[in-house]
Amino acid sequence: LLGGAGAGLVAGAAGGAVLGRAGAAASASAGQPGSGQVGGGQVPFHGPRQAGIVEPQQARVHLAAFDLLPGAGREELRTLLRRWSGTSARLGRGEPADEYESRIAADAGPCSLTVTFGFGATLFDKAGLAGLRPRALDPLPDFPEDAIDRARSDGDLWVQIGADDALVAFNALRVLQRQAAGTAAQRWQMTGFGRTPGATARPMTGRNLMGQVDGTNNPRPQDQDFAAKVFCGADEPGWLAGGSYVVLRRIRMLLDNWENLPEDRQERVIGRRKSDGAPLSGGGEHTAVDLAAQNADGTLAVPADAHVRVAAPASNGGAAMLRRGFSYHDGTLPDGSPDAGLLFLAFQADPRRGFVPVQRKLARGDGLSRFLRHEASGLYAVPPGAPEGGYVGQALLE
Ligand code: HEM
Repeated sequence: LLGGAGAGLVAGAAGGAVLGRAGAAASASAGQPGSGQVGGGQVPFHGPRQAGIVEPQQARVHLAAFDLLPGAGREELRTLLRRWSGTSARLGRGEPADEYESRIAADAGPCSLTVTFGFGATLFDKAGLAGLRPRALDPLPDFPEDAIDRARSDGDLWVQIGADDALVAFNALRVLQRQAAGTAAQRWQMTGFGRTPGATARPMTGRNLMGQVDGTNNPRPQDQDFAAKVFCGADEPGWLAGGSYVVLRRIRMLLDNWENLPEDRQERVIGRRKSDGAPLSGGGEHTAVDLAAQNADGTLAVPADAHVRVAAPASNGGAAMLRRGFSYHDGTLPDGSPDAGLLFLAFQADPRRGFVPVQRKLARGDGLSRFLRHEASGLYAVPPGAPEGGYVGQALLE
């Protein structure tokens, strides 16, 4: 049951059209598993790009990292990736995974499930592949004010599971965890969320836990230079051509401080209006930000330390990335503040020309940084997608 017309179709950058969320009508097969609008959404696992990069963000995400167990090498890694890929393809079609499945997602459709795999720098030595580790995978530098917990950072293998239903997402995580047994141990796991499709009267840019419209000025698949910004070119080792790099930052928001700030000051911290995300230089949400615009009194309309000014490609030699983060909330910390924020994820062609220069600048003091703590970090090479019958990472491992 593929999603129907219109809204779910993401064109282009993936090398063809992929069907995202189910379209308008609950079809004639209403009553069948997954025949509802959300349940029927199907994203093909196989293709030139991995799923879970250009597709609309789902309502739920699990992120996890695994480390190879002592004694596991290239052969065991190949077996695991073959298995994980086969399972992800089946679950993405709404079929049961295998004997590891425990009916958690029974009765539901695939709910736009995507599973995305990445490789951390530490994988290559362990798998006897040191010569194929790309230079861009060198560890990220330390940034001022970082408070990174290494136990919740890094890892040999990275997995992103997105779905529009929490049970479907958990089921996929659980199956992959069980299939890893004996080969790789889970290092850390995080759960995030975004807006549920259908929650707003029309499709809209989502909001983060600070209440801001977030994602407006992302590169768009229809932009001419989209692929060059997000996907690796021929300067990478051959196995990664057409792949990407993803940076993960678990960023806690100091919400008690933020929420005490009057809305007009909150808007100056970002440089956009809270109500509709429009830039303070004028226009609507999608009007280009005019960094030179001035207020009547001659001050900058978008303040000098506004997040959108400091992060903008124009301020960073063209540095660009596709942000695809999810909110998280893991209860309350001992001091009574919410353990909540953003699982920041950014896909890019080269982190040395994307995330690193931008974060260097932000950490030196954009207006937003004083309301944030970066608490975990990861950088992973995201191989290209697997063709039908193949598995993710095949070009590296065979
Ligand atoms: C833009 C929020 C962290 C890079 C924005 C916008 C918001 C926002 C509301 C404006 C709307 C948009 O274009 O999406 C946040 C929050 C963060 C965070 C709440 C942390 C919790 C970061 C980090 C980076 C980053 C760590 C990269 C190092 C960008 C970029 C833009 C942007 C490149 C677009 C700027 C432009 O060209 O207009 N962010 N952001 N952000 N942010 Fe962040």
